[in-house]
Amino acid sequence: MQVEHSSVLLERCVTLLTPSIEKSQTPIVVDATLGLGGHSFALLEKFPQLRIVGLDRDLKAIDKATQRLSKFSDRITVIHAVYDEMPKVLDSLGISNVDGILFDLGVSSMQLDNSERGFSYSQSAPLDMRMDQSQGLSAQEVLDTYSRNDLVRVIREYGEERFASRIVDNIITARESGRLKTTTDLADIVKESIPAPARRVGGNPAKRTFQALRIEVNQELSVLERAIPRAMDRLNVGGRLVVMSFQSLEDKIVKRYFTAATESKTPLGLPVEIASLAAKFHLVFRGSEKASDVEIHENSRAQSVRLRAIERVAS
Ligand SMILES: C[S@@+](CC[C@H](N)C(=O)[O-])C[C@H]1O[C@@H](n2cnc3c(N)ncnc32)[C@H](O)[C@@H]1O
Repeated sequence: MQVEHSSVLLERCVTLLTPSIEKSQTPIVVDATLGLGGHSFALLEKFPQLRIVGLDRDLKAIDKATQRLSKFSDRITVIHAVYDEMPKVLDSLGISNVDGILFDLGVSSMQLDNSERGFSYSQSAPLDMRMDQSQGLSAQEVLDTYSRNDLVRVIREYGEERFASRIVDNIITARESGRLKTTTDLADIVKESIPAPARRVGGNPAKRTFQALRIEVNQELSVLERAIPRAMDRLNVGGRLVVMSFQSLEDKIVKRYFTAATESKTPLGLPVEIASLAAKFHLVFRGSEKASDVEIHENSRAQSVRLRAIERVAS
């Protein structure tokens, strides 16, 4: 089982969560993005007293992780949920606060490698892109039903794509004539829409449009906006929140919440800190960390990771 090898910054995440886990007699960690269970596996193996609540919105991930973690079945509770539902999930389990929370954002290698899911632009497949295939609009439905303005907004904002208008004009022509049905149809439309000189830089030109649609289909940014403060709220004093983002829009959200939570609200110019206005969180390290060159060489998914961590220091 190669779980350990595909999990990004595995040892670093375990190290960051270790002080919070070791502080408690009965530690609990939430793995908000269980995926294939790589991080949870390593944590459960290292800490025999640890209990994990693992969430994933993808039923296939839930199945795989449940199998992979079966030897720890008495210490892990696997739940099909979107991570902004964490408070509701914890309440239903009778858990008030936890000692660590881990977010490993984005899609898993299993989702990317499984071409029928529609996340990959390199193999022809239906345009689905839903992490939870049991509900919500697929990418095909978004492409077929959104107005021109909405599609331009999605592709420009979430894909940071400067040729969004041209791409959408071609999407609309193709959808009207029934020529937009697969991931490769979409990838070809994007390629044709981007001027040749711009196509030569920055990797596959379809990457940004696919990212944008995936974010829209799964409402990734609005869910993350709700999830981070909710997660912070459920940490014990001494508990840590560790987040790995894989694109700048996610990382900006995490950074904004972490910065606000670690700043004192005592008005500038007052000679002493007002205890009730002191920051309730500290940064575990300044800024964000990247993966090492060695890890990036072994696992290309580690290329874009940005890791941030905060610790609760007051209730
Ligand atoms: C990068 S993978 C996690 C990999 C995992 N840490 C491991 O080591 O195997 C991200 C997982 O998070 C899930 N996910 C993404 N957004 C989610 C959300 N809003 N709520 C719950 N799960 C989510 C995806 O379905 C995917 O399985």
